[in-house]
Amino acid sequence: MYCRHLALANFRSFVRLDLELPAHLGVFWGENGQGKSNLLESLYLLATSRSYRTSAERELVNWYVEAEPAFARVAGEVVRRHGLTRLEVVLAEPPGAAPAPPDRETPRAPAAGQPPLASVRRRVRINGQPKPPAELLGHLNVVLFSPLDVDLIAGPAEARRRYLHITLCQVDHRYLRTLRRYQRVLLQRNALLRGLRERPARPDQLGYWDSQLVELGAELTLAHLRAIALLNGQLRELYPRLSNEPAPLRALYRSTVPLGDDLAALGEQAGSTPEGRDEEVLGRLREQFSTHLESIRPRERQQAVTLAGPHRDDIGFCAGDVDLRLFGSRGQQRTAALGLKLAEVGLMQHYTGERPVVLLDDVMSELDPRRRQFLQGVVVEHEQVLITATETGVFTPAFLGDAAVYHVQAGRVRLESAP
Ligand SMILES: Nc1ncnc2c1ncn2[C@@H]1O[C@H](COP(=O)(O)OP(=O)(O)OP(=O)(O)O)[C@@H](O)[C@H]1O
Ligand SMILES: [Mg+2]
Repeated sequence: MYCRHLALANFRSFVRLDLELPAHLGVFWGENGQGKSNLLESLYLLATSRSYRTSAERELVNWYVEAEPAFARVAGEVVRRHGLTRLEVVLAEPPGAAPAPPDRETPRAPAAGQPPLASVRRRVRINGQPKPPAELLGHLNVVLFSPLDVDLIAGPAEARRRYLHITLCQVDHRYLRTLRRYQRVLLQRNALLRGLRERPARPDQLGYWDSQLVELGAELTLAHLRAIALLNGQLRELYPRLSNEPAPLRALYRSTVPLGDDLAALGEQAGSTPEGRDEEVLGRLREQFSTHLESIRPRERQQAVTLAGPHRDDIGFCAGDVDLRLFGSRGQQRTAALGLKLAEVGLMQHYTGERPVVLLDDVMSELDPRRRQFLQGVVVEHEQVLITATETGVFTPAFLGDAAVYHVQAGRVRLESAP
């Protein structure tokens, strides 16, 4: 699939932008602070209805916007095998939330010590029809790599769980529904555990929430194991070439529920969970989860929080036997994060039958020349790849020749050369 047209209004530093995008390679170059990352962020928003850089969506609205109430709009046309889809996300302040600035020079950016700006509401349209934001997922699939992604390897477990959620929610609606139900059950169960701690009556209610937790948790765990197996399958081939190290990068699913060797091994190898075995595997996952909940019940009652389940699981990344989170160099961690993102392309294609759009933000500056060369060789095999850089010198002439090259300056984008 590819995004063939992007239109922005008041999105970050872009007051207005109308851009035809190439079906294959697009290079966006420009100095620091000119809007390159903002551009990729807008495509990510169109895919997921969220930003990867902020959870305060008001930050996405141009600070100098004169419209009242303030709003930002991102719209795109996505070409897939079965046709064209028009997607639109509008972020709008509620009416009367904040007065417009007195002039174009006064930003609405929150100054230090000032109260935060009013929050914005997300509105989504698909082919012109208003839809709930969650329905946006799946129409435009993106894999984004940004310098922040080193956190996937080096950062907290939360970042890795979010990574799995966002990846799978983009390609599997059943997973999205299960995840939302699980999160609701978790809230209810935690509330009950807190209630029981304050007035220890009717612990029998816990049984109901336990069974819900186990049912949905087992489904999520199976989806996670399967995703990890697919990523490992991709990494085996990709990573030695990317890193020039013979040992492949391996992702290990670290479940808070003891899985036993054979269930844990499902995360090792692609194809080790044939569809037909779903029920059997789910049955065993449920069993393990229930047994474990029994065994930690006193601790859960005492701490009044759900201590085991996919919401607490983690992924480890090892090169050979070395745990990269603990012992990887910064460069190794970055390469591993990039490998993971490139592997995700194959994972998404496995689920949807189509190649996602690949967004690579500032990836070249972090790589040595050999890795740059390798990366360019890999991405030309992808469908649409949009890549930012501060200079074109980091690309080979052949790559630039195949790409549409754009110069980004002060929130404007100018096509310099077409493939
Ligand atoms: N809501 C907003 N309104 C106006 N400008 C904004 C807003 N949010 C961010 N900016 C500005 O957008 C500019 C461009 O940011 P962006 O991150 O896209 O730059 P970049 O081209 O990727 O730079 P670099 O090469 O340093 O990564 C920044 O100067 C930032 O201050
Ligand atoms: Mg940037």
